[in-house]
Amino acid sequence: MTTATDSPSQHQDVGRFTTVDSADRSAWFIEFMDLANGLPEYRRMRGELAASLGELSGKRVLEVGSGTGDDARELAALVGSEGKVVGTDISAAMVAEADRRAARQPTLPVRFAVEDMRRLSFGNGAFDATTAKLVRQHCDDLDTADDELLRVTRSGGRVAVFDYDFDTLTVDHPDRRATREVVHCFCDGHRNGWNGRALARRFLDRGLREVSLTPHTVRMPWVFFRRSLQGRLAEAVASGALSWSQQELQAWWQPLEAAEERGRFFASITGFVLAGTR
Ligand SMILES: C[S@@+](CC[C@H](N)C(=O)[O-])C[C@H]1O[C@@H](n2cnc3c(N)ncnc32)[C@H](O)[C@@H]1O
Repeated sequence: MTTATDSPSQHQDVGRFTTVDSADRSAWFIEFMDLANGLPEYRRMRGELAASLGELSGKRVLEVGSGTGDDARELAALVGSEGKVVGTDISAAMVAEADRRAARQPTLPVRFAVEDMRRLSFGNGAFDATTAKLVRQHCDDLDTADDELLRVTRSGGRVAVFDYDFDTLTVDHPDRRATREVVHCFCDGHRNGWNGRALARRFLDRGLREVSLTPHTVRMPWVFFRRSLQGRLAEAVASGALSWSQQELQAWWQPLEAAEERGRFFASITGFVLAGTR
């Protein structure tokens, strides 16, 4: 059930979405997002994010941390020719990929730019709607990033974000103690691993109104689970963040591989869509 990109030497640490451009293989992060975005739960969550932004025809929309630009292109189809969508990402490799994909649909009103979500170049209230999916969990200085997102959203405009809470990872494994260590290691490998549970508080504290919060549990197929954790755990063992030997790490994977072979593998993780009015 592994694929060519599942070779351990090629695995990247998902906590390194902060620095895609300096990764050994930035393409791994693009492939990872394509795998994730293809999951049915992601499709549903994208639909909810877009719907939370309200009627979009003719609107100016910003997506920060836009990655390969797939979501921004979907939003561009909704704003129509009178509207515009801007996607920004800190990674030049991601923006280049987003540009390449958008070039296939030249009439879509979308453009991409390299920008750090902590220092946006746009004026106050420049957008009718702003969105951020799976990026705040990777961001240092979330206070500044959230202030920026709200600053560029006009008064009365809509904000919709999605982030995981990585401690909600479940996996059916016979060793409860070791698996709890893995969950904590995976969670703490992200800059803001507990981001999901803090979402409502953070945005209410910043004055967002009409706030809603919807949990989304994603069932993780084996290939996605393995790709999500393998690089992270290998890195944690190498750095000592997880005080296991290589043999212990391999031993932890074994029952999961066996479960997958018997069609018994189960894992899930929960994230949250937060939406509100500026
Ligand atoms: C997990 S990917 C999500 C991409 C996209 N939102 C999606 O759901 O397909 C996280 C993205 O955030 C970007 N990123 C990380 N830190 C950032 C920052 N400080 N400002 C802007 N983008 C950032 C990464 O380069 C990466 O493209």
